[in-house]
Amino acid sequence: MSFISQFPQKRMRRLRRDDFSRSLVRENHLRTDDLIYPVFVLEGKQRKEQVVSMPGVERLSIDLLKLQAEKCLQLGIPAIAIFPVIDSSLKNLTADEALNPEGLVPQAVTQLKKNFPELGIITDIALDPYTSHGQDGLIDANGYVMNDETVLVLGQQALVHAQAGADVVAPSDMMDGRIAAIRAALDSNKFIHTRILAYSAKYASSFYGPFRDAVGSSANLRSGNKYTYQMDPANSDEALWEVGLDLQEGADMVMIKPGLPYLDIVRKVKDKFGAPTLVYQVSGEYAMLKAAAMNGWLDEEACVMESLLSCKRAGADAILTYFALDAATWLRKNI
Ligand code: PBG
Repeated sequence: MSFISQFPQKRMRRLRRDDFSRSLVRENHLRTDDLIYPVFVLEGKQRKEQVVSMPGVERLSIDLLKLQAEKCLQLGIPAIAIFPVIDSSLKNLTADEALNPEGLVPQAVTQLKKNFPELGIITDIALDPYTSHGQDGLIDANGYVMNDETVLVLGQQALVHAQAGADVVAPSDMMDGRIAAIRAALDSNKFIHTRILAYSAKYASSFYGPFRDAVGSSANLRSGNKYTYQMDPANSDEALWEVGLDLQEGADMVMIKPGLPYLDIVRKVKDKFGAPTLVYQVSGEYAMLKAAAMNGWLDEEACVMESLLSCKRAGADAILTYFALDAATWLRKNI
């Protein structure tokens, strides 16, 4: 009695047998210089507040933020992304504070650039931290976010950040035409080196909940949502369309957001355009991993590193993650 073959023709397990051969054939790697650290900045001095839905993440005043920036540099993290927590007394319908050259973001940028010139500083371009209604743009009488009026303000906001010294401006608002408008605002003021990181495929995701707690926009947004400008989670061709437009309009890098649930989009975008493609592991992803780890249900280091590596495997060139400091520390430990 004879079998077709007595042995497997090819043994995939041979290369998996030992550490050395697993290392030799490993296709993707996470490195410290793939990481960008998002931070929340507060007005004042020596102020530090826990973000309840993001254990381990704090809102910090600029003086304390400097210590974080220093840590990033020590660990080899190339850049941080700044998100402001604006006092509610400064929020209004027209987001005026967004254009204040002495506002919290310009101050933070100036201070950080002065102390740590080699650390890349990325600022968020959107109006939601500054509007009393929590939307990313200006609204009309029906509460609809107006595109072209908003885009004009975003161009000015980007210019204010560039003047303060921001290396990269990152529009996260999803208005149409904002990349072209921001590029024009920067170019016509001679900021030809300021890079634009476009949140090109930003989905209307419920995974942003903890972030909205962190910047204090969730209460303002209570009656609203962002469905008229952020993308429908059901769509994927549309993401390619968005990315194509943003690149055409002058984006230097594009971003997909959120991360893990949208890695199929990262792969498609990378394959189609071959442009620098970033991914944002958002607040809700952080909260899930952290909560499970704190309950002892998941191994935090192993699961975080696996999630970040998966972003790389999907084609991401860099990852915004609230785990950046931890991940960099773990990478160093395991050398
Ligand atoms: C808003 C903005 C959001 C995030 C970054 N910029 C939230 C939103 O669109 O409501 C979310 C980031 C995160 O969840 O970590 N311009």
